[in-house]
Amino acid sequence: MALASSKDTATSKGSASARDTAPARPPSRTPTRGFWSSTIGKKTVMAASGLIMLAYLVAHVAGNLKVFFGPEEFNGYAHWLRVMGAPILHHEWGLWLARIVLLAAVGAHAVSAYQLSRRDLKARPTRYAHRRKGSSYATRTMRWGGIILALFIVWHVLDLTTGTVHPGGFEEGRPYQNVIDTFSTWYGNTIYIVAMLAVGLHVRHGFWSAAQTLGVGNARRERLLRRTADVLALALTAGFIAVPVGVMTGVVN
Ligand code: HEM
Repeated sequence: MALASSKDTATSKGSASARDTAPARPPSRTPTRGFWSSTIGKKTVMAASGLIMLAYLVAHVAGNLKVFFGPEEFNGYAHWLRVMGAPILHHEWGLWLARIVLLAAVGAHAVSAYQLSRRDLKARPTRYAHRRKGSSYATRTMRWGGIILALFIVWHVLDLTTGTVHPGGFEEGRPYQNVIDTFSTWYGNTIYIVAMLAVGLHVRHGFWSAAQTLGVGNARRERLLRRTADVLALALTAGFIAVPVGVMTGVVN
């Protein structure tokens, strides 16, 4: 074929007739590109980046619960986050390293989710006839949950890290007071509680999907992983929601 690349012509070893009838070979790929463009590759990236974010959430909820031990404990923990790694790295570099890893995980998770959902739409034979029935309840929940969480994270960082949209005067280095300000508004409580429910649903299904992608093994392990997903999701949601509830009820003040 006239359009065959020079590389194809140079490396092809088949007979002339086989060459004429053979379909055009895809351009050669590096193993990384091949992995990334395969569906299983993208699912593995989703699973791995999801697990990184999950590890962050487990640490974050544990840190947030320090709010029940008073301002010194909570502000001390926030300060520790800023200086962790300082003996080895330069001041605040530990925090920036964690932020970069987290941001890369969020980016990889979002890009692979988008590409997998495009691929799924393209592969569907009845694209227009029964579009609503096409994606399962779980897929739609994950898609919307992911979008809600992405928007929440932007709002949350602007609220409690930079203070840009913070209600009341944001005080750098005094997160205890900042958290109380946020949960003293009806919209702060509403946004957080909706987002925490989304976290629970997303983690429950996401953890289970990741386990399937990475290989469940056997029926006994499958049951254990399902139970782990349920417990993790419930503990995260309850732990996060405890903070606004603590402020609303006056336990944290
Ligand atoms: C009641 C729930 C939550 C509370 C009270 C809370 C509290 C905080 C506070 C005080 C900070 C600022 C730390 C600092 O700059 O000193 C923060 C940062 C952050 N939180 Fe939360 N958080 C909650 C839930 C969540 C959830 C559910 C997520 C993710 C889905 C999340 C993700 C983050 C991220 C990504 C940062 C930015 C870290 C940074 O770069 O400084 N948080 N959170």
